[in-house]
Amino acid sequence: MYNLLKGKRGIIFGALDENSIAWKTAERVHEEGGVFVLSNSPASIRMGSIMQLAQKTDSKVIAADATSVADLENLVDQAMEIIGGKIDFVLHSIGMSVNVRKGNHYTNQNYEYTEKAWNVSAVSFHKVMQVLYKKDAMNEWGSIVALSYMAAQRVFPDYNDMADNKAYLESIARSFGYFFGRDKKVRVNTISQSPTATKAGQGVKGFDGFIAFADKMAPLGNASALDCANYTVSMFSDLTKMVTLQNLLHDGGFSNMGVSQQVMEMFE
Ligand code: NAI
Repeated sequence: MYNLLKGKRGIIFGALDENSIAWKTAERVHEEGGVFVLSNSPASIRMGSIMQLAQKTDSKVIAADATSVADLENLVDQAMEIIGGKIDFVLHSIGMSVNVRKGNHYTNQNYEYTEKAWNVSAVSFHKVMQVLYKKDAMNEWGSIVALSYMAAQRVFPDYNDMADNKAYLESIARSFGYFFGRDKKVRVNTISQSPTATKAGQGVKGFDGFIAFADKMAPLGNASALDCANYTVSMFSDLTKMVTLQNLLHDGGFSNMGVSQQVMEMFE
């Protein structure tokens, strides 16, 4: 432990259970001296085990549907009161596709579901930042991170409408990041993470196949949820204060590979 986040305060969205990337991040942020409020949707708070995490990290949980601006305003007001000041770091670790859940193929979308997933997985990031920006809730040199996936740039057929949502999410990071940087000296980035065995990850059809494929392609293998948490800690720390508007690939090298020896051997 390096005390990298000593004196820093934040909000962490999206810890559902102990497999969640946000869960590991909350544990690591706590170990590095950061204090925070945890948030998730009311249904996920009921269904998941976030209260255990709250106890473990000595933090409070505030429910917010990330698609509701009113919920987010309430969350940010309450969070500043609880942690005793403005915010230094925010993790947006939120994703959900109804088409994926219902098994609707990409070529056979129900557009009500498409819109719902877009709102939850992408526009919610804009909403979170707009609420923080308007309330002037972020400290200078604060850091905002959202989690993305490579299907934003390349075709992974079964990633479905989430591919489009991730592309939109990454674009919001750049567009809002400009204004947040210029006006408040706050940095905004997305981390594009390896496939990871979580509730959201395992919901994707063919997940076992593509997590194994990515692992065999990447020279370092897949990055775990804990690795992602560590990277996020570094992005929240002062050591990365000039990094903004980036989509940061955190994938063991997968994204720059053409083919690996291990994968080739399967076809020889
Ligand atoms: P997870 O299922 O543990 O987390 C997803 C979270 O989104 C849950 O806590 C859920 O309650 C929350 N959520 C859904 N609807 C919400 C709403 N309306 N308001 C507030 N919160 C809501 O899964 P995981 O994998 O930890 O997902 C976190 C992020 O990482 C997501 O953005 C996901 O797309 C991204 N990601 C995941 C990868 C994977 O393979 N698992 C790979 C790359 C990125």
